[in-house]
Amino acid sequence: MSKVTVVGAGAVGATCANVIATREVASEVVLIDIKEGLSEGKMLDMYQTSTLMDFDTTLTGATNDYSKTANSDVVVITSGIPRKPGMTREELIGTNAKIMRSVIDQVVKYSPNAIVIVVANPMDTLTYLVHKTSGLPKNHIIGMGGALDSSRFKCYLAKATGANINNVDGMVIGGHGDTTMIPLLSKASINGVPVSQFASKEVLEDAVQKTMVGGATLTKLIGTSAWYAPGAAVSMMVESILHDQKKLIPCSCLLDGEYGQKDLCIGVPAVIGREGIEKIVEVELTKEEAEKFAASAAAVHKTNDVLREAAGL
Ligand code: 2OP
Repeated sequence: MSKVTVVGAGAVGATCANVIATREVASEVVLIDIKEGLSEGKMLDMYQTSTLMDFDTTLTGATNDYSKTANSDVVVITSGIPRKPGMTREELIGTNAKIMRSVIDQVVKYSPNAIVIVVANPMDTLTYLVHKTSGLPKNHIIGMGGALDSSRFKCYLAKATGANINNVDGMVIGGHGDTTMIPLLSKASINGVPVSQFASKEVLEDAVQKTMVGGATLTKLIGTSAWYAPGAAVSMMVESILHDQKKLIPCSCLLDGEYGQKDLCIGVPAVIGREGIEKIVEVELTKEEAEKFAASAAAVHKTNDVLREAAGL
């Protein structure tokens, strides 16, 4: 038996609950939101797909009643305002930090042993806020960004090289921001063969640039933040935790000396299993990638400074 709570019944939260439910990643999914009836309605609608999609996950909706989330194994926090076209993720900090603080207290009260996955933006900084305020162990707090950015990177690499999408491997580290993420071309491959054998430097660089603004591209097209890939990225992480798959997933972790950084949550590859972050893996970076990582870390530190002021940390 395993229970997952998703906080926030907007597009990302509901999609996340839906993927977890239909893939039967957990035996129970609770969707909670402050808006009266929203999560109950979405979970009832989802429940009515059970016979059509062939799953029997228990689905519960809750309007702000955290007692229904009690004893969750994993809690996913998506609540917060999404960015609009032209906005950066960092601009959401004031509002979303306030929301995060009120949510995390309730989450920890009812599920003190949960592993928390932070999705709301600015994701790295809000993950840091959860570290500073929740009292949860550091391996139990994970930010989602790198998992999503890496899946976008693989899509753009597939297009750039003409390879089968499921043969593409690649990862994105650094901050989950348009200018802070670092798609690692040096590690990208088509079934183990370096991508440089399949496309020119220019074409691959274009894939990197498209990955970095992947979220903004969607925001411009849709008018608000994306949800299919964010929801699926969370589900993949939840599955690695609950089924102890120990997948190597780029995600936002609190660093304590790794990659030369301290007191910072930022995207790095980590082994994700039943204990949450079981190991941070330090991959060898090229000189250029290492410089970019240091610059990305400096930018995330800056956003954390804004948070400290806004949240009085
Ligand atoms: C994105 O990049 C939601 O930050 C998320 O689409």
